[in-house]
Amino acid sequence: MKTSVNLAIFASGNGSNAENIVKYFTPYNTIRVDSIFTNKVDAYVLERANRLDIPSFYFNNTDFRTGDSILEILHARHIDYIILAGFLLKIPSNLIMAYPQKIINIHPALLPKYGGKGMYGDNVHRAVKEAGDSKSGISIHLVNEHYDDGAIIFQAQCKLEPSDTISQIAAKVHKLEYQYFPIAIEDYINKQNFS
Ligand code: GAR
Repeated sequence: MKTSVNLAIFASGNGSNAENIVKYFTPYNTIRVDSIFTNKVDAYVLERANRLDIPSFYFNNTDFRTGDSILEILHARHIDYIILAGFLLKIPSNLIMAYPQKIINIHPALLPKYGGKGMYGDNVHRAVKEAGDSKSGISIHLVNEHYDDGAIIFQAQCKLEPSDTISQIAAKVHKLEYQYFPIAIEDYINKQNFS
């Protein structure tokens, strides 16, 4: 039985969830964030990684889609789980096969609504607003070969007002993300490894 589990976080942009996850697991003995990976050379998450003293890795989209160079780094670092925290590329099948049921994504809406290609960040909140929905939320799910399609392991909801702007909806959803994403990761990994 393993005594500890290593996480790699993949993020494409700001990285506020990545930072929140790093901070949550810093005092933890059995689950540790090993590294942060990004496909954007100028992503703000790289500055966060630097500040948090977490090793970071950049890869371009072609390297990600073809070959095994990312997989080789993940294996060399003994990564057990991949956490997608605002990561916008589709995960290639070599990673899905190497990490079955071990890639966890957060989606900023109540799947199965508002998922699929192109549905990320404010695009999602805009679609929710345009539909006039009275609620939104977060979905934390396992990743398979289709966008936003794997088994959902956690959802939480927030109430929306008709007057909410896209940025107000985003703020409500982010609040849920900060509150629940680390705990959902913790619960899932503990059940798989330590119970
Ligand atoms: C988060 O709201 C996350 O749910 C979303 O991107 C944002 C990243 O924020 N992910 C997707 O839309 C994936 N389809 P952050 O970079 O500040 O953590």
